[in-house]
Amino acid sequence: MILALLSKKGGVGKTTTAVSLAAAFARRGQRVLLLDLDSQASASLSLGLGREQFAPSSADVLLGRVSAREARQPTSVPGLEVIPASSDLLGVDLELGGFRNKERRLADRLEGIRDDQDLILIDCPPSLSLLPINALVAADGYVVPIVPQYLAWEGLDNLLASAERISARVGSRTRLLGLLLTMVDYRLRSVRDNVDEIRKRFGSQVFAVEIRVNVRLAEAPGHGRTIFDFDPFCAGARAYDLLAEELSPVLGLVAPAAVP
Ligand SMILES: Nc1ncnc2c1ncn2[C@@H]1O[C@H](COP(=O)(O)OP(=O)(O)O)[C@@H](O)[C@H]1O
Ligand SMILES: [Mg+2]
Repeated sequence: MILALLSKKGGVGKTTTAVSLAAAFARRGQRVLLLDLDSQASASLSLGLGREQFAPSSADVLLGRVSAREARQPTSVPGLEVIPASSDLLGVDLELGGFRNKERRLADRLEGIRDDQDLILIDCPPSLSLLPINALVAADGYVVPIVPQYLAWEGLDNLLASAERISARVGSRTRLLGLLLTMVDYRLRSVRDNVDEIRKRFGSQVFAVEIRVNVRLAEAPGHGRTIFDFDPFCAGARAYDLLAEELSPVLGLVAPAAVP
């Protein structure tokens, strides 16, 4: 199962969600791989990798220099591996345009490890350039995080329509798994209205679980630890664990053992 975190907007919680969900599923006994496709490498850094560990990277996998299997690295979280990003990804985004199968490149490169992992999570850069398109095409499903603020859903219809068009054209089986409300801060007056509006507009496409604003989620990456290692009992850890629970049946993942 391959899941991509997708949004044209930055700062909406894609990376936080990718890392926290990856850790939540690993804790549930799944074999998880996090593939970092953002040249900023925030997901790789959040997992405690140093920049000297960014090779081989997802850029090397895309360019065919190494296989995805060779590029996998263990993390401090049992059951969670990572293929880090690197700044080379900026160039790769352009270089991909020269490939014959420019939109299917990542799907092809991940074929060899698909069956090794229960779940592959892809953290995307904030655009719909060739890298996220590759993630979309490789994925079985995608999740779009939304911060319920003013103009939050502006461009969303457009993103969903583009995603549908691209996957239909390329023959990908990818589908929208859900819209995820993130950084929800009910202390702000308009947030309740925005959440209501989004839920009314998009109905069952919005996950029941909401990720509230939680400083511990913002602090954890600086310590190179996932929220479950950094503060396992905070509201953010609980919320992402509940999201993993909500997603499990959707992803066809059943916990092999009870979570400690
Ligand atoms: N629920 C949350 N509560 C508080 N801060 C958050 C939360 N989710 C993410 N953040 C912080 O907000 C910033 C943007 O989140 P990030 O996951 O990097 O977004 P994106 O990957 O979409 O750019 C980061 O500094 C992150 O630590
Ligand atoms: Mg990010």
